[in-house]
Amino acid sequence: MAKSNRHVSRGGHFQAKGDQRSILIMRVGSFVCGSALLIVVRQVDGIDSIANAHWTIDFCYSIFAHLHRNFKDGEIPHIESWTMKAIVVTEQAAGKAGMKLAARPEPHAAINDVVVQVHASGFTWDELTWPPTWTDRLNRDRTPSTPGHELAGVVTALGYGTTGLSVGQRVFGLTDWTRDGTLAEYVAVEARNLAPLPGDVDFTVGASLPMPGLTAWQGLFEHGRLRAGQSVLALGAAGVVGSMVTQLARAAGAYVIGTGRTSDRQAVLDFGAQEFIDLENDALKDVGTVDLVFDVFGGDIGKRSAALIRAGGILVTIAGPPEARPANGLAVDFVVESDRAQLTEIVQRVRDGRLRTNIGAVLTLDDAVADLNRTERRIGKTIIRVRP
Ligand SMILES: NC(=O)c1ccc[n+]([C@@H]2O[C@H](COP(=O)([O-])OP(=O)(O)OC[C@H]3O[C@@H](n4cnc5c(N)ncnc54)[C@H](OP(=O)(O)O)[C@@H]3O)[C@@H](O)[C@H]2O)c1
Repeated sequence: MAKSNRHVSRGGHFQAKGDQRSILIMRVGSFVCGSALLIVVRQVDGIDSIANAHWTIDFCYSIFAHLHRNFKDGEIPHIESWTMKAIVVTEQAAGKAGMKLAARPEPHAAINDVVVQVHASGFTWDELTWPPTWTDRLNRDRTPSTPGHELAGVVTALGYGTTGLSVGQRVFGLTDWTRDGTLAEYVAVEARNLAPLPGDVDFTVGASLPMPGLTAWQGLFEHGRLRAGQSVLALGAAGVVGSMVTQLARAAGAYVIGTGRTSDRQAVLDFGAQEFIDLENDALKDVGTVDLVFDVFGGDIGKRSAALIRAGGILVTIAGPPEARPANGLAVDFVVESDRAQLTEIVQRVRDGRLRTNIGAVLTLDDAVADLNRTERRIGKTIIRVRP
């Protein structure tokens, strides 16, 4: 086990509530031992710096935490205890069939990170086709990688310099595309990508909100500049993102035309669309013109939708660079980013009943690989409940 992994485990082994006392003992003990070690380091090295103080306290905390966990269970300390369960992928060509449940090193909290004990994780059905699942920011192979980018859980460790969140806090949010994700017992994530999860919101609900909620919010209000009274064509309106688009646009005072498969009609109307276009039977051109198209498909439907945008209107797409642009309007394709203020607004709307999440299957981490490989149609967000 690499030395760097030891830092991560600070507090990471404890239940958030039941073991608060243990965390306190760890902290006090590691502070006392760390201070003693620092004095020794100063004697030997003559170095006196904050970085040394941080390192020595951190080091002692790791040892305390390690001993506590193992001796508590009456076990002899062993190196495997620094590992966690995570789903990994190594071969892009294998798709979901290449997913495996494996033992992986617990993550390390880098500067401004937190480590979160994941309670629930969100998986997007086609994320194994996304390039950053496989490569890092320098386009280097980063396999084995752990998929999943949405999470709800409890903070167990803070990186150097991290502010704004604390150990034991419930959080939810969206993780970086090019780092190991949330289909794991622990994940390291930049604190700014998370927001507090209110105590009355279940972890499963929390994990289902970040991707669709933020994508719909940013597409409609930041990139689409939606105003009350405008018309919106929401493609795939019964889907995970589309159902959020439909609800948020309607709540903002827009006239919403939702599209989907024949069987999606009632679901789309229930999410608040004033009209439904059955893409399997109706003609898209019968919609007339609209101010904003929210495209989740691209391809032929995306192209035909772009033609419906009236002068000054906007095509917002999350399906990659658009193949067609509105004749007299704007086209914006974007990738969602995490945003604490928006997450807070989205979860507040869920709490007071103004917004409904669209959860499909809820799986366990142990069963997820087999379940995700089933071929039948999945409706709604897939959530992996990592801790029961
Ligand atoms: N750029 C970004 O930031 C960003 C963010 C989030 C998501 N995305 C991407 O957006 C896409 C949508 O994600 P999602 O989670 O919302 O997926 P989803 O839940 O499957 O939503 C798509 C919806 O459209 C329906 N649909 C698909 N093809 C159709 C067709 N030909 N005619 C009528 N209805 C059709 C689907 O029905 P069926 O289930 O029957 O196919 C589903 O109801 C994914 O590719 C995802 O990777 C991008």
